[in-house]
Amino acid sequence: MTLLETKELTKNFGSLRAIDRLNFLLASGETRAVIGPNGAGKTTLINLLMGELSPDAGEIFFERRRISRLSSHRVARRGIARTFQIVNLFPNLTVEENIRAAAQVSQSWLRWSRSARQITERVLTQVRLRDKSEQRARELSHGDQRLLEIGIALAQEPKLLLLDEPTAGLSPVETQAMIELIGQLKKMAILIVEHDMNVVLALADKITVLHRGQILAEGLPAEIQANAQVQEVYLRMSQFIQTKRD
Ligand SMILES: Nc1ncnc2c1ncn2[C@@H]1O[C@H](COP(=O)(O)OP(=O)(O)OP(=O)(O)O)[C@@H](O)[C@H]1O
Ligand SMILES: [Mg+2]
Repeated sequence: MTLLETKELTKNFGSLRAIDRLNFLLASGETRAVIGPNGAGKTTLINLLMGELSPDAGEIFFERRRISRLSSHRVARRGIARTFQIVNLFPNLTVEENIRAAAQVSQSWLRWSRSARQITERVLTQVRLRDKSEQRARELSHGDQRLLEIGIALAQEPKLLLLDEPTAGLSPVETQAMIELIGQLKKMAILIVEHDMNVVLALADKITVLHRGQILAEGLPAEIQANAQVQEVYLRMSQFIQTKRD
């Protein structure tokens, strides 16, 4: 069943078209990786889905209801949560306070929800930060901060979780812990933007390759790996990075 759909979604920044008439579908319970070169429009897509940017044209539907042009608060209320490419949390609050604050906000939206305390307890266990629950967020390692950010999103009990490069800056051991955590979130749909192909291949049911705001390719991981056009874009990108370094 389709959970999320964009129709001809478009976002311009001045003369630059960051998202270009994008038709994108995501099924309930699916884990989708969105990959693509720097500047492809991946973060812009998340910002549009979350209502943090408004589209110049096109629509977004979530559970068949239109969400484009809703504020980010209202989008969150419909059941979408996100994390950021750069860590975003309350640095002076403790781990527990960060999660509880998120749980309390969503709790007041959802009458049927369990208490914020119960949600906080469950999430602390889920992201394996129970031992560090009294530490201030700013005192955590980068890896633990990334886990906490996911915990904050989970405390909102979303139906769809948008993750923008959750393993950026993580060590191999931390990356493995992140893969395990995300892999356990089977109940919700997940859209993960990720540069690390090991992470993508470990988690994704399907992959969408974004290039210049459009879908260059979409399919099962094996299909995308074998796609010549995708390989070419990535090859050009690595040559470009190489040239910039030289
Ligand atoms: N607020 C903004 N104002 C102007 N241009 C923007 C803005 N946000 C993004 N862009 C431009 O839009 C294009 C898409 O950016 P976006 O951040 O979505 O790319 P990305 O795929 O997330 O890249 P990366 O892999 O580097 O994170 C880029 O050319 C970027 O410079
Ligand atoms: Mg980005």
